[in-house]
Amino acid sequence: MATLPIKTVGVIGTGVIGASWTALFLAKGLQVIVSDPAPRAEERLRSYLEKEWPTMSKVGLSPGASLKNYEFVDDISDHLGRLDFIQENGPERLDFKRSLFAHLDANTREHIILASSSSGLPSSEFITDCQKNPARILIGHPFNPPHLVPLVEVVPHPRTGAQYVTGAMGFYQSMGKDTVLVKQEVPGFIANRLQAAVCGEAYSLISRGIISAQDLDKTVTSGIGLRWAFTGPIMTNVLGGGGDFRHLLEHLGPASRAWTEDMRNHEFDFNSESLDALNGSVQEWVSKVDVETEERKRDNSMLALIKDKSNDSV
Ligand SMILES: NC(=O)c1ccc[n+]([C@@H]2O[C@H](COP(=O)([O-])OP(=O)(O)OC[C@H]3O[C@@H](n4cnc5c(N)ncnc54)[C@H](O)[C@@H]3O)[C@@H](O)[C@H]2O)c1
Repeated sequence: MATLPIKTVGVIGTGVIGASWTALFLAKGLQVIVSDPAPRAEERLRSYLEKEWPTMSKVGLSPGASLKNYEFVDDISDHLGRLDFIQENGPERLDFKRSLFAHLDANTREHIILASSSSGLPSSEFITDCQKNPARILIGHPFNPPHLVPLVEVVPHPRTGAQYVTGAMGFYQSMGKDTVLVKQEVPGFIANRLQAAVCGEAYSLISRGIISAQDLDKTVTSGIGLRWAFTGPIMTNVLGGGGDFRHLLEHLGPASRAWTEDMRNHEFDFNSESLDALNGSVQEWVSKVDVETEERKRDNSMLALIKDKSNDSV
């Protein structure tokens, strides 16, 4: 059955991620119905959208795009029949997602896709009370901020229907996103697992006094991260092996096994002593910078990079 066209999207929760999705959907010319029970949520969303709209104009507005095309509603339950797609962005709590998705499943049209932005809770854990059509439920995990970062991980549960996976991938692609399909549910999916691996080692190195927080970040932003924006860990190593990936692994693999063994022996343990040491170094740096300026600089540079990558032709 057809899952498209999608003209009206429901956005549930307008915190960090829901507000950003709303900006993107509006920029792509969709109608958006949003809800969030937090005090002043409507006002906060309005000022966020007004602040981000100039950025969305730089990204490019689709025909019909307008800041007026959203409706903030007290209770989305009264509007579920109008929605062609739902992006859920509520708290990352199993009990919350379980009861919300049971409600959404029971009260929406049977074939609209219900996607969760969940960072790591797999949907098989929160469809347990869905009776109508849990096959249309999946994860559409964005990277913050979703109105700029292209990646969306689509993670079906074992009973998600193939047509809904295709529908979700197609929808996100039509929003300008780069989608990847995670073929089996694993906690944290892919991008957050990779981040957890790198961050765990970063926290360990800083808390042990081996490097400062500022210099740790520089090793990423001036080195591995810069390169990874163009060639990921696999293609980087294909190139590092002069085109021969296996050769590189045979050549350098044994040495890197010794590093990973040492890393395992010094895993960051999140106890308060380690946290104090880590946070001390972070604060020494962060107390000297204006965080909002850093965020604006990052978003502007990222926008330029995304544009450059999309013009990429060799
Ligand atoms: N922050 C990130 O970097 C990030 C990235 C990707 C995915 N996610 C995921 O996105 C989801 C939202 O995360 P966030 O960072 O935006 O959290 P957040 O705390 O900023 O926002 C959550 C919002 O949900 C609202 N909410 C609570 N109950 C609600 C209800 N019944 N109906 C509608 N809204 C309700 C809250 O008022 C709050 O505004 C989580 O599942 C999270 O794991 C977060």
